[in-house]
Amino acid sequence: MKRFIEPHELARDSRFVRQDNAQATILAALPDDVDQVVDAFEKFAPAIEAQVKGTAAEPLFEAYGPAFALVTLNEPLRPNDPAAVTRLKLRMHGIFVGELQALEGAGRSLWDFPDAPWEFKMNMARQCWDEARHVQIFEKLLEHTGGEVGMFPESTFLFECACADDPALRVAGVNRGLEGLACDVFRDMIRYGEASEDQVMTQAVDYVLADELTHVRFGSDWVKAFTKDDPDRYKAAQDFRREVDKQFSFGGARSDREDAAIPIAWDDRVEAGFTEEELQELTQVSGEGPSRETLSEAARILRERHLARREQEATR
Ligand SMILES: [Fe+2]
Ligand SMILES: [Fe+2]
Repeated sequence: MKRFIEPHELARDSRFVRQDNAQATILAALPDDVDQVVDAFEKFAPAIEAQVKGTAAEPLFEAYGPAFALVTLNEPLRPNDPAAVTRLKLRMHGIFVGELQALEGAGRSLWDFPDAPWEFKMNMARQCWDEARHVQIFEKLLEHTGGEVGMFPESTFLFECACADDPALRVAGVNRGLEGLACDVFRDMIRYGEASEDQVMTQAVDYVLADELTHVRFGSDWVKAFTKDDPDRYKAAQDFRREVDKQFSFGGARSDREDAAIPIAWDDRVEAGFTEEELQELTQVSGEGPSRETLSEAARILRERHLARREQEATR
């Protein structure tokens, strides 16, 4: 079996629609400037439209234009918000494919590094077992919210950004970067479950979160073990995690800012082995990028232009 596979080699059945990473990449690098945000999205509008065609995200595109992701990502998810149900399904679907890729990531970590210690392989095998269960849990939660597998396009951004060739970087990116992000998202879903009095959601996600803490801990322990007596490698691992953290902060949507859609799960992360210093740094890295007002204003302009274009097309 091949080692270090490319993201496009991840196997999926015919229900899945693959999305390219243009949107996530733009979101990670946006400046706090309305015009530049508008320009970036205008440029990618045809690509975004082509990707959502035929999926459940198409109505979101038609309603909000190319920046529908700004609306769905940047506004906190609350039970009574407009389009809350579609956004909830979108988030559930995103988590579901995220769990799939986490399973694939942990499986690859087990297979890609034949010389790694036995205990490392056992930890990765344990993680595969957990992630397989998470895939099943989120498939059921997706159905619970009225959604289905394949209704939205899948981006392999997670797998792509986190799968480095050095095991120290791999666990830094996957187990500390992405599993840390999972802690933030799941803490937020538990809050959502409580706010909407959805016991199934609250309890299921609480079980999953307990596992994710273990996975972050694997990362915290193995980064230390792999980089023992090698300060350069340790620095490379920390830098890589920082890069992953920045990419997955979605322009401040996941951050410690007051206007964050997904706040940092501080207490959970401390329990999982993040130091105060690392968390301060995460606060800084994830808090950069455009403010919510900038993004809302850009989304408003993009929506107006999109609707005007549609009207023009209709009268042609
Ligand atoms: Fe998971
Ligand atoms: Fe995990």
